Amino acid sequence: MASWVDHVIWWQVYPLGFVGAEKELDEVRGEVHRLPRLQGWLDHLISWGGNGLMLGPIFTSSTHGYDTVDYLQIDPRLGDDADFDSLVSGMHRRGLKLVMDMVFNHSSDEHEWFRQSRSSRNNPYRNYYHWWNAERGKPPYRYSLFDINHDAWKYDSLTNAYYLHYFSRKQPDLNWENPQVRKELYDIMKFWADKGIDGFRLDAFQFAAKDTSWPAFPQGYENHFALYYAMVPGLHKYLQEMNREVFSRYPVMSVAEGAGNSLQDAHDLVDGNRKELDIAYAFDGVDLAGLNGYDFLAFKKVFTKWDSAFSKKGWLAIFLSNHDQARLVSRFGNDSPPFRAHSSQMLSTFLLTMRGTPFIYNGDELGMSNAYFDKPEDYRDVQTLNEYKHQMQTGGDMKLTLKKMQAGSRDNGRTPIQWDGSANAGFSTGNPWIRVNPNYLQVNVSLEEKDSNSCLNYFRKLTKLRNENKTLVYGSYKILDEENPSVYAYLREGGGERFLVLLNFTDKPASAHTGMESGKYVLGNYNGPSPDGMLRPYEAQIYRLGP
Ligand code: NOJ
Repeated sequence: MASWVDHVIWWQVYPLGFVGAEKELDEVRGEVHRLPRLQGWLDHLISWGGNGLMLGPIFTSSTHGYDTVDYLQIDPRLGDDADFDSLVSGMHRRGLKLVMDMVFNHSSDEHEWFRQSRSSRNNPYRNYYHWWNAERGKPPYRYSLFDINHDAWKYDSLTNAYYLHYFSRKQPDLNWENPQVRKELYDIMKFWADKGIDGFRLDAFQFAAKDTSWPAFPQGYENHFALYYAMVPGLHKYLQEMNREVFSRYPVMSVAEGAGNSLQDAHDLVDGNRKELDIAYAFDGVDLAGLNGYDFLAFKKVFTKWDSAFSKKGWLAIFLSNHDQARLVSRFGNDSPPFRAHSSQMLSTFLLTMRGTPFIYNGDELGMSNAYFDKPEDYRDVQTLNEYKHQMQTGGDMKLTLKKMQAGSRDNGRTPIQWDGSANAGFSTGNPWIRVNPNYLQVNVSLEEKDSNSCLNYFRKLTKLRNENKTLVYGSYKILDEENPSVYAYLREGGGERFLVLLNFTDKPASAHTGMESGKYVLGNYNGPSPDGMLRPYEAQIYRLGP
């Protein structure tokens, strides 16, 4: 692992994702984050103390970025080669790292490989994807995450066969068993590494290996598909090969989406001796929140469990949001006006004082919250729209469906970042791909710059504290007062330093029984601790304790 990997604070930006389900290019509305404009965003990133940009897919794609048409071309809607090169050099000049998102579990159905593959059963590219000839009958059922019918096999009359797509039908799964496919993909990675990028995110990679004897899909696994689809034998072998071919030859970092189904899986992915990946990215934490909130004690247990799994070996990502989640303050905090800022700051305190590498999703540093669009036509995300159609077609409860969309759609996290109070929150003078969150007049960078108590200014203090105190990066973690139903309390210790972190996750005053002597108050989201020693609603406090 390169020496910088573990202490970078990543800012994650989703550059595409602005079109609806399976629309064609000419139907695309609005402006997107064009690469040259992204250069300006880097000033913001630097200003709050981040040092890495994790960019969603920017290759030519047929719709939303996760269906790649050409892995070697920048999507013309975003920029061109020269724009990309200048982004990389501009970032390096400023000491920033760039990670790119490689979508290798599947390509677009418009990728040349797939066009060839579907053209005839004898085409040399046939075996780049998974096909099932129709004369064998229907293929064994596989659940699709994004398909309107949740059916992962799509019939193609051209060759009288079905192809596999775990995601939408525009995203046929690549056949990783084919060594030629793997070689092509490693060559693509080398192409981008040669251009100087600093790392790779592997999209949906835990699903890449498949059991191609296609045993029956176990009943009831639709809601737990990862248990069945993830970490199929072969995956570690592919990662080791990728490491030999790519990672070991460049000073790059690697993280894959998902960390399997057990601590052992996760560990195996990032055990340095096995030479696979650098950072484990586990979903247990973000998966806790649902329509009715989440279980706070379970939340503490999950993060404690993951920390203990990596206390001696391996490294993990710390995150509570990304482009596939609704906003973190709406899911794990409280986005009602009296509590939004404090609860967002409290959650930021958590992310920046835990052991691991923080991945901050753009806008979370401002306390951006869910947009809660109440009209189906305001949504753009393929998963949201296809599920809506699915419910319509199967007589589902449409009121409940809309409620679920408002609370949980990924589009809540994909509304444009809010720069100021001008039209479209200063994001674009054109039509943004998706409506801006109506709260942009109250929540935006420009206002927060001027307010010393804003989420953004508090975030800056947190990153400074973390960047200056490596104990907050590498120190051991110990949970205190574990069964406390309101407060998350923990100790970070290392290099002769000890920090105590107290986080009130509720809208009521609360206290913790940590058994710790009082220390020096170093940071908090209220102006100093309360004289009565209680934590106020969503209060965060950090103390430096004596050695
Ligand atoms: C995971 C990505 O994070 C998500 O945004 C995407 O829709 C799916 N993989 C399919 O590529």
